[in-house]
Amino acid sequence: MLTEFAVLDEQWAARLPDHLSWHEAATLTCAGVTAWNAVTGTRIPKPGQWVLTIGSGGVSLFALQFAKLLGCRVVAITSRAEKADRLRALGADLVVSSTDIPEWGGWAREQTGGIDLVVETGGPATFAQSLIASTLYGHIVLLTLQDASGRSIEMPAALYQRSLATISRLFVGSRSNLEAMLRAVSQHRLKPVIDRVFPFAEAPEAYRHFRQGDVFGKVVIDCA
Ligand SMILES: NC(=O)c1ccc[n+]([C@@H]2O[C@H](COP(=O)([O-])OP(=O)(O)OC[C@H]3O[C@@H](n4cnc5c(N)ncnc54)[C@H](OP(=O)(O)O)[C@@H]3O)[C@@H](O)[C@H]2O)c1
Repeated sequence: MLTEFAVLDEQWAARLPDHLSWHEAATLTCAGVTAWNAVTGTRIPKPGQWVLTIGSGGVSLFALQFAKLLGCRVVAITSRAEKADRLRALGADLVVSSTDIPEWGGWAREQTGGIDLVVETGGPATFAQSLIASTLYGHIVLLTLQDASGRSIEMPAALYQRSLATISRLFVGSRSNLEAMLRAVSQHRLKPVIDRVFPFAEAPEAYRHFRQGDVFGKVVIDCA
């Protein structure tokens, strides 16, 4: 909310897990719930199935963590190979750099036999590769339709015909999604990944840092 004080309806409040700091808890309401809903919202992947995440932003890292809670295997795509160790430390079974392997969809499919769930945060730059990576009748949760320059995703018909993937959309999630996610976060004492915390006075710098793209997890602004 980027404010020091706010008056809220008490119905909007939810109890936070005891093991989290305020900074950690602040990461949960948008990125956390979106990832929770993407992974558990419609077709919950079974233990051992493959989930693919794209990049190192808040949604992708939560999706990786939640997929591991479910016992799934995870392929993490990153544009920066130097992040591979940190993605593996979070539980990624396979990490691929899209800079080294721009056609990573075929690589992921070959390595895994086909991805069961793609958490598609990359948009036009990655959508075709996500279709290629998907298993027959796989599931792609499409979270990003356009990039920052306004370019939209395109549907390559031949690829779509071959994958027969179900493509679904969502917008963050509901209060009950939030409460279900908080129960899982508490039970597993899951820790959100914070890239950097900025003081309130440096909020513009926080936005600049976020926009340049080289982040790992959530950027937090401390309004205390
Ligand atoms: N539909 C919904 O309800 C919903 C809700 C929340 C978010 N979203 C969408 O989901 C996407 C992910 O959001 P997010 O906040 O988790 O992450 P984000 O900040 O959009 O993604 C950051 C990551 O993307 C990768 N990236 C590669 N090239 C980049 C570039 N040129 N600029 C910025 N990032 C670049 C980087 O990972 P690597 O360095 O590892 O490549 C970076 O860590 C966004 O498009 C957002 O709008 C949708």
